[in-house]
Parts: sequence; C-alpha cells; structure tokens
Amino acid sequence: MSGNKTKFVPSETGSNDLSFIETTALIVAYHRSLEHARPDRLFADPFAAAFVEAAQAEGIASDTMPAAPTDYFAVRTRFFDEYLLKAVHAGCRQMVTLAAGLDARAFRLQLPRGVRLFEVELATMLRFKESVLSTLRARRECDRVLVPTDLRDDWPAALVEAGFDTSVPTAWLVEGLLFYLTNEDGDRLLQRVTKLSAPGSWLGAEHVNHATIDVMAAVLSRLAQGGAPWQSFIENPDAWMARLGWVSRVSPHDELALRYGRPLELGAFPAGKQPKAWLIEATRG
Ligand SMILES: C[S@@+](CC[C@H](N)C(=O)[O-])C[C@H]1O[C@@H](n2cnc3c(N)ncnc32)[C@H](O)[C@@H]1O
Repeated sequence: MSGNKTKFVPSETGSNDLSFIETTALIVAYHRSLEHARPDRLFADPFAAAFVEAAQAEGIASDTMPAAPTDYFAVRTRFFDEYLLKAVHAGCRQMVTLAAGLDARAFRLQLPRGVRLFEVELATMLRFKESVLSTLRARRECDRVLVPTDLRDDWPAALVEAGFDTSVPTAWLVEGLLFYLTNEDGDRLLQRVTKLSAPGSWLGAEHVNHATIDVMAAVLSRLAQGGAPWQSFIENPDAWMARLGWVSRVSPHDELALRYGRPLELGAFPAGKQPKAWLIEATRG
C-alpha cells in the first residue's frame, strides 16, 4: 500500500452498492494504510491497504479533496487500540463495535481466543469487507460475529439474536460515528448501549466540539453535499457521559497527539474557540 498515493473520498453515488456514508469508512482505511507504511507508525494495520485497493479496483471515486490529516486518524486509532487491549487485560471477553466499517481490530490486535467481538454495520459494507478479508485469508484467534443491521433499526434485538450476552461486561466502541447523528439519535444509540451493558462494562467513543467546524469546513461541506453532514457536537463530554450513566475519562485529541509525538498544526484560536475532538473511555457507573 505504501505506493498508493490516491486520496479516497466518498463518491457521490457510492460504488457498486456501497452508499455514500459507507464509503466514509474508506477514508479511514486510506489513512490507516498510510500510517501503517510509516517506520514510526502508531499501530499496524496490514489490512487497510487491501480495502483501499479493492475499492479502487471497484471504481469508488477518488480525488484530492482536503481531508483530515492522517495524524488525526492515527492518534484516534492508537487510542482505541489501547482501550480495547486494556479491556481484554482487565478480563473483558465481549466486545461490540458499532458502525464497524473497515476496522480490522479482530485480526490485527491479536485478540485472544475466548474473546467474542461483534461488528454491527450496514449489510453492504460488511459484504465488501468480507470479500476483501476472505481474499487475504485473514486469520484471527477471537470469535468474530457480524451483525448486518442498520443502527436506525432495532439493532439491540439483532445483536442479542446474534448471541450477545447481556449478563457479562462488554467493551463497546463507537468510533467515527456520533457526529453524523443528531443529538437525539446519538443519545438514543447510547441509551441503548447503556441498557445492554452489564455492570463493569466499558465504552470507547469519539465526539467533537462545535468549534471543530471552523477547521473542517471543506471536508464538512463535501460530506454534507453527499448527504452525510455532521449533526451534533459536545462541549462537555464528562457531563454528557454522566447523564447517560457512564463514568468517563476524556482525552482531548490534541493532548494525546502531543503525547504520541504527532501534534496537529491547527493554528491559534481565541479563548473558548479551540477545536476539540474528545476521545472517551468510560465505565458503567
Ligand atoms: C467514518 S466510518 C467509521 C468506521 C469505523 N468505526 C472506523 O473508525 O474505522 C462510519 C461508518 O458508519 C457506518 N454507518 C453509517 N450509518 C450507519 C447506520 N445507520 N447503521 C450502521 N452503520 C452505519 C458506515 O457504513 C461507515 O462504515
């Protein structure tokens, strides 16, 4: 993948049967593939390039639209890798990624035998993902269960039907999704998560504050044109998590990026106007 210089952006119409919103997962995969190729990478994702190449082969539109920098995705991915590994080391054996996209953690994090990871995603995206993974003969130790469903529907029922156990602690991951939802839909999604979470459960989530709009204008306008606008923003993530029944530890992305040696050059902002992406780890209080 290191030789791939094409930036992936959502196509107007999707490719084959991939919808616009599904193709946003390819942007993430594209940046993960670039990070994987770096000698000082923050994580390894040997699958990301294959997803991008397969999409290219299937004619998914690409251009050089400005996108969030690779470092943004690299820091976020590393954070949630560490989050899931911490949960495993703490004894958690059930995990759920909501809007899993082209996340290959079931394979690349070497999650051990005995861990069961559910991936909830739209059916067409899961079909695309599986077609690539089967070509690669990807191997894993953990038990991986696909839950092809729309998060606007009764996904808790689909999850339980797929074997999810409400009596054991779960590590949830909601990465790259919540800002696409309205406040009401995001809250509803997380209320359902809370309801399904046994005591001792974990939640990993990402959100952004409103000032982020100012540094993302070109990307957001492109996403809005395609029908996937960002619709919600969070100013106080701890209060938001507490209201939903979780005790959170929030890492602002810029602070984490400094710690990982990947500071983003966003420029200077007036007080109270600093763009913030929140990387959240929470436990069921
Ligand atoms: C930006 S991608 C993030 C993917 C993944 N979480 C990651 O970080 O690699 C957003 C994902 O949300 C999925 N998605 C959007 N709306 C959805 C819905 N209503 N139900 C299920 N998945 C949805 C898309 O298909 C896409 O894969």
